[in-house]
Amino acid sequence: MSSFPSLRPRRLRSGPVMRELVRETTLAASDFIYPLFIAPGTGVRKPIGSMPGVFNFSIDEVEREVVRLAELGIRAVILFGLPPTKDEVGSGAFDEHGIVQRAIPAIKRAVPEMIVMTDVCMCEYTSHGHCGIIEGERLLNDPTLELLAKTALSHARAGADVVAPSDMMDGRVRAIRTALDAENFQDVPIMSYAVKYASGFYGPFRDAADSAPTFGDRRSYQMDPANAREALKEAALDEAEGADMLMVKPGMPYLDILWRVRQQTNLPLAVYHVSGEYAMAKAAAANGWIDEPRVAIETMLAFKRAGADLILSYYAPEVAQWIRDGHLQ
Ligand code: PBG
Repeated sequence: MSSFPSLRPRRLRSGPVMRELVRETTLAASDFIYPLFIAPGTGVRKPIGSMPGVFNFSIDEVEREVVRLAELGIRAVILFGLPPTKDEVGSGAFDEHGIVQRAIPAIKRAVPEMIVMTDVCMCEYTSHGHCGIIEGERLLNDPTLELLAKTALSHARAGADVVAPSDMMDGRVRAIRTALDAENFQDVPIMSYAVKYASGFYGPFRDAADSAPTFGDRRSYQMDPANAREALKEAALDEAEGADMLMVKPGMPYLDILWRVRQQTNLPLAVYHVSGEYAMAKAAAANGWIDEPRVAIETMLAFKRAGADLILSYYAPEVAQWIRDGHLQ
């Protein structure tokens, strides 16, 4: 009785309605957080060569873009800033009139219900492209914490709904929580890029955000791709420091990590489908080598299946449209 021919799993795959009835994971536009790159100027909508469909937007253009996103059902965005000038300590990151600090209220005016998250990091703002303060070729952890806390605070003051530190300094979640609470921003959540690997998949992002390090690499602060137990340590530390949500990054090459972190934490868990993953899919699609909507949706379902609650992806608006067009069937 307990095997073929009495058991036939194909019975539950007989048609689209039956398949939908027994489907274990779902995908919706509301699962996504869409990354936006904000640039100085007006009327700027500059395409990123290695990321087809992704742009640097000036603030006036991003106001239009978030209206389009809201119409597609996207409920959250995360902001990255391209400052007009950079310096040694990345002062553009915590400038109260900085690019992100001005974009936040503009977006909230355009679409008040949009959840505006901000990437908290120094690398787009420093002349050397590293994620904090350097001494010689060494990145200093504790002095960087102060700048990160200042940056997060400036975002909260500008009206950010969530701050998301991506620098990978030790102790930054606690430093940011303490700074926010001291100014009555105790209700602003922290989404920590808790498990962030030193990855080659960030290549196209560094074009989009102009944030490639001018010397060395990020291996002394981002994680070694060979390590999995260390991911659980990072996730546990950030949770203990007061993170409200955790993230694993990149996505597809790290599904095992996503699954393991999911087993460990009850916090909402996000995954970042990063620029290189997006670029690879776009390149293959442009060559006609893959069925793009199908591959993109399969990728997003894999994230949900592996335990992600939220997905940061450059595909968000297209996938939202494809879901509407019936591609989930
Ligand atoms: C750092 C940051 C990076 C990404 C998000 N935040 C780049 C890096 O660490 O070098 C990468 C995102 C992507 O590749 O899509 N501020």
